[in-house]
Amino acid sequence: MAPKVLISDELSDAAVQIFRDRGIEVDFQPKLGKDKEKLAEIIGNYDALAIRSATKVTEKLIEQATNLKVIGRAGIGVDNVDIPAASKKGIIVMNTPFGNSITTAEHAISMMMAVARQIPEASASTHAGKWEKSRFMGVELTAKTLGVIGAGNIGSIVCDRAKGLRMKVVAYDPFLTEDRATQLGIEKVELDDLLARADFITLHVPLTDATRNILSAEAIAKTKPGVRIVNCARGGLVDEAALAEAIKSGHVAGAAFDVFEVEPATESPLFNLPNVVVTPHLGASTSEAQENVALQVAEQIADYLLTGA
Ligand code: MLT
Repeated sequence: MAPKVLISDELSDAAVQIFRDRGIEVDFQPKLGKDKEKLAEIIGNYDALAIRSATKVTEKLIEQATNLKVIGRAGIGVDNVDIPAASKKGIIVMNTPFGNSITTAEHAISMMMAVARQIPEASASTHAGKWEKSRFMGVELTAKTLGVIGAGNIGSIVCDRAKGLRMKVVAYDPFLTEDRATQLGIEKVELDDLLARADFITLHVPLTDATRNILSAEAIAKTKPGVRIVNCARGGLVDEAALAEAIKSGHVAGAAFDVFEVEPATESPLFNLPNVVVTPHLGASTSEAQENVALQVAEQIADYLLTGA
């Protein structure tokens, strides 16, 4: 009997086609991730589950998943999957660590530029018929220091793009070797050094016990006056309330956030502050990245179901 895959989030049609081409029965129900009860009712019928971020794979759901062998997340973060609960039942959890790296790095660079030149506020003001030419004074990126926290898949692309913008790049990453830093043309530094030197800080680490609140009130106090902070990685890496205070005091000149402690974020201490640019977790939202992660997750799930590899 052909294995059965349930796709419970919006995923490119390319994934459906791959499953079909490889002889796997596929049930494409892109809205199901938001309907916990219905999902729990039917999950027992499937060998695999393909998701993005809307489906929450909780311990309770996993209890109902009596035939499930693999969960594939089309994207990087697996925060929406209870991994210990899945592992206890022998269910493999896989992600696609490379498919959306460029897109997310490009979003971080766009956010840095947006906050450097106050583009969203200037755009809103111009749409409103005001012509506030003298209100929006920006800063140049050339020759400024960018502090990159985490120089892995995404962070290293950000380093490369920032070098292209003629920025000086320093990175804090305990896993970064001196050789790799030299190859990237960047300087490996300790966190306190980065905080003291960076004109812009961008985060590219997962949220773990070691990284939670890495930009705490104490860390923010060590930053250079006038710093601008970009977070397109995960909510919880930066203490949003402390950052809001630092913006109000004028110590931090601006922030650009795509991710929040609580998502969907309908409120945050950062909302409605001057020179704070916010987007609703759009880091991976390009057609190219979504096509990539859909293809990759479908190939990986199919390989696992058909060959166990
Ligand atoms: C990811 O983990 O792949 C990104 O944050 C994108 C997303 O969650 O949609």
